[in-house]
Amino acid sequence: MLAKPIIIDCDPGADDAIALFLALAFPEQLNVLGITTVAGNVPLSLTQKNARCLCELVSKADVPVYAGCPRPLLRPLMTAEEVHGKTGLDGIHLPEPQMPLQTQHAVDFLIETLLRSTDKITLATLGPLTNIAIALIKEPAICQQMQEIVMMGGAVTQGNITPSAEFNLYVDPHAAHVVVTAGVPLTIMSLDVTHQAIATPERLSAIRAINSPVSAATLGLLDHYGAYEMQRHGFLGPPLHDPCVIAYLLQPDLFTSRRAYVAIETTSELTMGRTVVDRGHVTNQPPNANIAETIDADGFYQLLTRAIAKFT
Ligand code: RIB
Ligand code: CA
Repeated sequence: MLAKPIIIDCDPGADDAIALFLALAFPEQLNVLGITTVAGNVPLSLTQKNARCLCELVSKADVPVYAGCPRPLLRPLMTAEEVHGKTGLDGIHLPEPQMPLQTQHAVDFLIETLLRSTDKITLATLGPLTNIAIALIKEPAICQQMQEIVMMGGAVTQGNITPSAEFNLYVDPHAAHVVVTAGVPLTIMSLDVTHQAIATPERLSAIRAINSPVSAATLGLLDHYGAYEMQRHGFLGPPLHDPCVIAYLLQPDLFTSRRAYVAIETTSELTMGRTVVDRGHVTNQPPNANIAETIDADGFYQLLTRAIAKFT
């Protein structure tokens, strides 16, 4: 099987970092054509730098990193330093990146790469969808070049930044609306499934036993990031939101999903960014997304542990 060509759009971010480790561990399965960065967990100046630091940590400085949009389409930027720390990667200290930031804008990289590719490309989105939305608006023809978009975002039930909404889609709900209405095949990893992927002490001990710089970085990131998530949600450990996207690309049978019509709230401040999911088909709208519903969490952590062990 040829490796699946993918582009990862992210806002590192502790869980983005672990998603990048997972994606870069299996080059025989995932051909990461590039990493595009967006403002989200922390400002763009940090997300683009963090992405480069993380690539260098796993000796993948050949993967090009691009800076994208520094703010949402319409709303002011909202960041999450309370979760990921001032650096976006609190809990670890990585050296200043030596690999260059690509000079091309992430949106232009997305458009150029998609239009030029002879194979359809999968987009793995781990942050607010601003870059993707602007690429779709600037060049609608890229829709035909996308195999699918697999996104971390949304909440069928309880939100995390408001009772209604999940952070990525709350930060840029208008971008999310552009993406879910673009007609591109879409799989959504909402909080309802990522909250099943808890990094419990037992699962973390398997990663700790690897005893490598990357396993130490993983634990350092999760130790810091977990404190907030555990206090906020009372979990036994931090949920690994973004790595669920990559795990789906590597091992889709870890998940079950259901097709449904989904729309994004972009009007009411009370429910801004809400993923309204018509699981009961009451709107008679045709389904436009696969909504992941369950994950084999033990299988997920076995995959993640295997991935981290690949980096000596
Ligand atoms: O709500 C969780 C999502 O928001 C994750 O992608 C996390 O990294 C933040 O971007
Ligand atoms: Ca993220």
